[in-house]
Parts: sequence; structure tokens; C-alpha cells
Amino acid sequence: MKKFLLPMLLLVMFGCYYDSEEGLYGKPGTGCDTTVTKFSTEVKPILQSNCLTCHANSVAAGSGGGIKLQDYADVKTYADNGKLIGTISHTSGFDAMPKGGGKLTDCNILIIQTWITKGKLND
Ligand code: HEC
Repeated sequence: MKKFLLPMLLLVMFGCYYDSEEGLYGKPGTGCDTTVTKFSTEVKPILQSNCLTCHANSVAAGSGGGIKLQDYADVKTYADNGKLIGTISHTSGFDAMPKGGGKLTDCNILIIQTWITKGKLND
């Protein structure tokens, strides 16, 4: 019985290690934490820092081509029609956003993509 103890211990340790790595860092290997992708605390701040200078409700008509990205309902519209992810991933056929600025980091794009995949919740 004793000789089974070590392999079993290693198995248990490895199992726990794998779980916790995924829990801590989201997608393994990317270094990008996508475990929490709430609209209020993850997605909105990214839009606030990178998009609302042109797409806030008060300025959208003048500088954002009439496109508002401040409130959940408006963001969801562009998430639903594919334009949110298309523009920020610089997919051909979409206007690259942020307009005239640098592309979002891979991690920020992944967070928004994950929020969309998880059902675009207003959480
Ligand atoms: C400097 C101003 C500016 C910034 C910053 C900006 N946009 Fe835009 N955005 C525009 C303008 C102007 C348009 C209208 C289309 C055009 O002129 O390219 C537009 C259009 C869009 C559209 C609609 C595209 C279509 O095909 O209908 C989306 C979606 C969008 N922006 C998302 C974003 C996101 C997401 C960010 C932040 C990551 C962002 N924009 C940052 C100015 C901006």
C-alpha cells in the first residue's frame, strides 16, 4: 500500500496545480486574465480609456460617426452585429478602431471577445 502513496500524492498535487493555474491566469499560457470579464469592471473601463473620447453619448454625433458606446444597450448592439470585435481586431471590412490610435492590447481584445462569447451580460 505504501508504494502507491507517492504517485497518488503527485497526482493530487498536479491536479490542484493545474486547476489553480487556470483560475489565476485565465487562458493558460497567455498571461491574460479572462476569468472575470464583467461588463462593469472589465469591458467598460477599456472602452472608457480608449473609445469614449469619440463615442461617449455627448460627443458621438460630432466625433464618433454617431456611434455611441457609453451605455450597455449601445455596446451590446455593436457586439451583436459583430462590429465591436471587427473594428478592434482590425479585421478587413471594418473601420479599424480606435480611429487614428494604436490597436488595443491583445489582452484587452481577448477580454472583450470573452465577454461576448460568455453571452454579453450586463453584469
Ligand atoms: C478619434 C475618435 C475615435 C475613437 C478614439 C474611436 N472611434 Fe470608433 N469611430 C469613430 C468614427 C469617426 C466612426 C465612424 C466611421 C469612420 O469614420 O470610420 C467610428 C465608427 C465606429 C464603429 C462603427 C463601424 C462601422 O462599420 O459601422 C464602431 C463599432 C467603433 N467605432 C468602435 C470603436 C471602439 C470599440 C473604439 C475604442 C477601442 C473606438 N471606436 C474608438 C471615431 C473614433
